[in-house]
Amino acid sequence: MKYQSLRGMNDILPDETPVWQNIEASVHGVFQRFGYSEIRTPLLEKTELFSRSIGDLTDIVSKEMYTFTDKGDRSVTLRPEETAPVVRAAIENNLIGSDKLAKLYYMGAMFRYERPQAGRLRQFNQAGVEAIGSNSPVLDAEIILLGIKLFEELGIKGLEVELNSVGCASCRPSYIKTLRAFLKEKLGDLCEDCNARYVSNPLRVLDCKKEKCSAVMSKAPSLSDSLCPECKKHFESVSGLLAAMNIRTRLNNKLVRGLDYYTGTTFEIVSSQLGSQSALCGGGRYDGLVEELGGPKLPAVGFAIGLERLVMLMNAQKPSGKGPGSKFVYVAALGEKAQKEAFIILNSIRNAGVKADMEYTGKSLKSCLKAASLLDADFTVIIGDDEVAKNAALVKDMKTGQQKEIAFERIIEEIK
Ligand code: HAM
Repeated sequence: MKYQSLRGMNDILPDETPVWQNIEASVHGVFQRFGYSEIRTPLLEKTELFSRSIGDLTDIVSKEMYTFTDKGDRSVTLRPEETAPVVRAAIENNLIGSDKLAKLYYMGAMFRYERPQAGRLRQFNQAGVEAIGSNSPVLDAEIILLGIKLFEELGIKGLEVELNSVGCASCRPSYIKTLRAFLKEKLGDLCEDCNARYVSNPLRVLDCKKEKCSAVMSKAPSLSDSLCPECKKHFESVSGLLAAMNIRTRLNNKLVRGLDYYTGTTFEIVSSQLGSQSALCGGGRYDGLVEELGGPKLPAVGFAIGLERLVMLMNAQKPSGKGPGSKFVYVAALGEKAQKEAFIILNSIRNAGVKADMEYTGKSLKSCLKAASLLDADFTVIIGDDEVAKNAALVKDMKTGQQKEIAFERIIEEIK
């Protein structure tokens, strides 16, 4: 019997992990530079945490959760997203309060029973941030800037920021009323799902991707026209701050997102290179969620990046270089005596912070050089019996093909 991984749940193989590690290192570096601290929460939570926060009628909760009853007869769910668990953990562990702002980030696996396709999996990874405790528009702008900085550091190009405001508890209800009145006449032209949304959450009709629905919705009343003065001012501040940072944004009036907790700012960072699953990153404000989950009345804002989609872009765009200081050295030991010397040199190269590996099995020089190019080495350090006698190795620059004899104690200097 041969086993296969579950549909939509992929192995990440050794030749793919370097890209992941590169992304993970940049996430830690950039997020921490912006003052965010890492939090790690369990993969399993009580089902109610998600139904309460994301919303019973959303696709995620009604169709996509991995929910089961555990041996203690409790309904538990593999996390489909990380905002609710982070808020739960922040409340439970007193990380938040009116006088302290919690700036948290995370990376890890999420689970949604969706129909798998390119960029859509059942187990996928997100990196995200949640800033809990302030409604300052500076924070909304900061997290968007943070996402952009991460993508810049990784060398990703061609991204667009879409921005919207979904209003607050005081202005949204009247918009929903106006929207329902508009939709009432057009139910026959909408898909079956949108007919159900008309009853449960008419806002979601705005972002239905079906052609006939988007045709109807192109004439729908605009959400931005019905924002209350506070929401309007907040939204204008966020847009202004982003413009001051030279970040171009596009107003997308239909960006309501698929989770119920949003209030005010919503945004997505999208790439046309991702096909139909174009959102690389999505987020927004959720000023009512902390209180809804039993915590103090504190506003919050956050986002999550889909890491598989980021890997797809890295692979498609192949941003140049392995990053500064990330050279790779291959040490070729030819003959038995050379093995020990090569092992010592390998170790000193690694101690100097340079990634290095060696030929362990006594291959010919030709095979060693082939292995070094397959591993994309920057240098090959060649040590045979002659070199041991001279206390010097041949250092071959794999990009130019040039080869020099270098004294053992100078090898690191030469490589660096
Ligand atoms: P989301 O839009 O559901 O938001 O997911 C964020 C990102 O995760 C998406 O833009 C996408 O890149 C990725 N993603 C979602 N589903 C899948 C999937 N099935 N396969 C691959 N990638 C996927 C949230 O999860 C919110 N918690 C974001 C947030 C944080 N809002 C405020 N704070």
